[in-house]
Amino acid sequence: MHCFVALTDLLMNLGKWRPSSRRHWRIAKYSIGAALLILVVHLAWSSLPLQKIYAKVQYDFTGDPAASTVQHDRLESVKREFLHAWSGYKAQSWMSDTLKPISGGREDQFCGWSATLIDSLDTLYIMSLGEEFDNAIKAAVTIDFEASTQNCQVNFFESTIRYLGGLLAAYDLSMDERLKPKLIELGEILYSAFNTTTGLPCSHCSLGRSKTQDIIVPDYDAPLADAFSFSLEFTRLWQITGDSKYLEKVLSISAIFQRAQSGSTIPGLWPERLDATDIAGSYSKFVTSSTKYSLGALSDSAYEYLVKTHLMLGGRDGRFAKLWMSATSQIKQHLLFRAYIPQWNETDTLFAGIVTKSHSDNEPVLDPRIEHLACFAGGMFALSSRIFKDPEDLKLGEALTNGCVWAYDNGPLGIMPETVTLLQCPEPRNAQCEWNDTIWEETRGRNLKYPPGYLRSIDTYYRLRPEAVESLFVLYRITGDLKWRDIGWKMFTKIIEHTRAPYGHATLTDVMELHEQVIQQNHTGNGTAETRKMVAKQKDQMESFWLAETLKYFYLLFSDPHLVSLDEFVLNTEAHPLRLMNSTRAYL
Ligand SMILES: *[C@@H]1O[C@H](CO)[C@@H](O)[C@H](O)[C@H]1NC(C)=O
Ligand SMILES: *[C@@H]1O[C@H](CO)[C@@H](O)[C@H](O)[C@H]1NC(C)=O
Ligand SMILES: *[C@@H]1O[C@H](CO)[C@@H](O)[C@H](O)[C@H]1NC(C)=O
Ligand SMILES: *[C@@H]1O[C@H](CO)[C@@H](O)[C@H](O)[C@H]1NC(C)=O
Ligand SMILES: *[C@@H]1O[C@H](CO)[C@@H](O)[C@H](O)[C@H]1NC(C)=O
Ligand SMILES: *[C@@H]1O[C@H](CO)[C@@H](O)[C@H](O)[C@H]1NC(C)=O
Repeated sequence: MHCFVALTDLLMNLGKWRPSSRRHWRIAKYSIGAALLILVVHLAWSSLPLQKIYAKVQYDFTGDPAASTVQHDRLESVKREFLHAWSGYKAQSWMSDTLKPISGGREDQFCGWSATLIDSLDTLYIMSLGEEFDNAIKAAVTIDFEASTQNCQVNFFESTIRYLGGLLAAYDLSMDERLKPKLIELGEILYSAFNTTTGLPCSHCSLGRSKTQDIIVPDYDAPLADAFSFSLEFTRLWQITGDSKYLEKVLSISAIFQRAQSGSTIPGLWPERLDATDIAGSYSKFVTSSTKYSLGALSDSAYEYLVKTHLMLGGRDGRFAKLWMSATSQIKQHLLFRAYIPQWNETDTLFAGIVTKSHSDNEPVLDPRIEHLACFAGGMFALSSRIFKDPEDLKLGEALTNGCVWAYDNGPLGIMPETVTLLQCPEPRNAQCEWNDTIWEETRGRNLKYPPGYLRSIDTYYRLRPEAVESLFVLYRITGDLKWRDIGWKMFTKIIEHTRAPYGHATLTDVMELHEQVIQQNHTGNGTAETRKMVAKQKDQMESFWLAETLKYFYLLFSDPHLVSLDEFVLNTEAHPLRLMNSTRAYL
């Protein structure tokens, strides 16, 4: 194993060597380097011992607790809502990227490769909608990824997690061979995103074989998650196609992140933005162009994928475990905090905030602003507790999930907004503090707009996001504790109550209050009569992850726990289940 790491490192260093006549050497460098690397990966990987980490992830469920009527009704309700939005998409905006759920319009924001269609394939399969699934596959195989890249800047991150993840999961669940050529076609296009000056992927670029262009320069301020959340999809693509160039990218990019990990102002963590144009020297530009750290926007899945890629690789090559161990101790030390929360006294409750550390010598500054996007972290720690056999991480996962559940409960509509700032405890990391009215009144001052515990919300949207129910799902599958299902049901009913729209479900722009809205207009003889009602303000937008993630997680929370078992699958950051192999060796 060490010999293998050393070899890849050697070759990576070779790759950094830059002769003066750049264009000439570039071609030589790429072809020789790539061929050598692929050969080395082949040889080294097949000689590695498989370190078995068949940690049992799921609770030992006997039978199906979903067999009760109440669970069955919940399951049917989720399916009914899914079909409502899916029918709207089919009727109004078939093969567009997204449906506009209020007007019934269509929108393309990810190259028009039918994002909602591809993202929903595995949900159709999981919900046993066989005929719908078959028709959707027939449509999916007609998408010409190569042709439609002509006028489109491919969003590498979103295309990897939604399109590639969606196709991989549909293939892994159904074994439908019609999907394989599409996997390869899209895989080739996304692979070309790495054809850059530093080898780090380009976030938004014209990609594909047909492009004749100068070599791509990656971004000066690439989001961490964009540069470092492709490892699950590329590993699985390697396993399915047998083409080790995909694995080679996973290993070479992780080697860069590993060496850069100690160079940031909080060694162990990577900042939310990276200068992907510069990996020279001690990575001083790469990881210090930003000094902000979080588990939320811009960063989230980079950390999640460390745990999950380790699992998918069967523990072979310990680098993902090492990356995770170095990161997790810093996450615990710097990013997590406790806050004053009213009427919430029994369970430990933790939140993830945003930290700035401008210089290695300065004290880190915690902004106690919690993000809906970071609500996946409870599930991430619960999963890591099983994979690395650390019971403390399960407690941490529960405490973080409690934090998001509280944030939902405390909201006026029972839905957590995109971000909320809390009042942190005096000893934010060590102990839960008791609610204190005096301190609360003093801190919030004249801002009486929000419920106790919420200081302010600078983004009051609910974008149909899945992260909170994702953690409920993972915790239920790991602990078997039925309380997570009950919490999930409450969340589901609140979300549906406010988001339901004529053709699907709509984004909410303000979950902090209801707004008066005309819901009916009658034109009478002498004017117009209006009926007004207090409702949640909706926006004509329904992201594809509503069908791919949010409704899938709700469904899997109430379904037979053996459906998409976490012992057989690992879910990518778009909730697409990828099959875990007993032995990766069989694929070389
Ligand atoms: C990488 O870019 C170069 C220069 O544009 C091009 O010649 C080469 O075909 C590209 N390679 C891949 C794999 O896309
Ligand atoms: C807090 O504790 C009191 C007394 O033990 C209990 O009655 C109450 O239900 C608890 N509140 C919550 C939200 O759990
Ligand atoms: C609340 O905080 C104030 C100000 O720090 C303090 O004087 C008071 O004793 C606290 N009350 C309780 C019930 O802890
Ligand atoms: C017309 O307006 C008057 C007074 O505003 C009202 O009493 C009457 O019912 C209205 N007629 C119709 C047909 O709506
Ligand atoms: C408008 O018409 C509907 C159906 O005729 C009726 O139920 C409703 O009460 C009317 N609303 C107003 C404000 O007149
Ligand atoms: C892995 O091994 C187990 C036990 O031998 C077997 O039941 C299962 O089907 C295997 N899974 C795959 C994906 O081969």
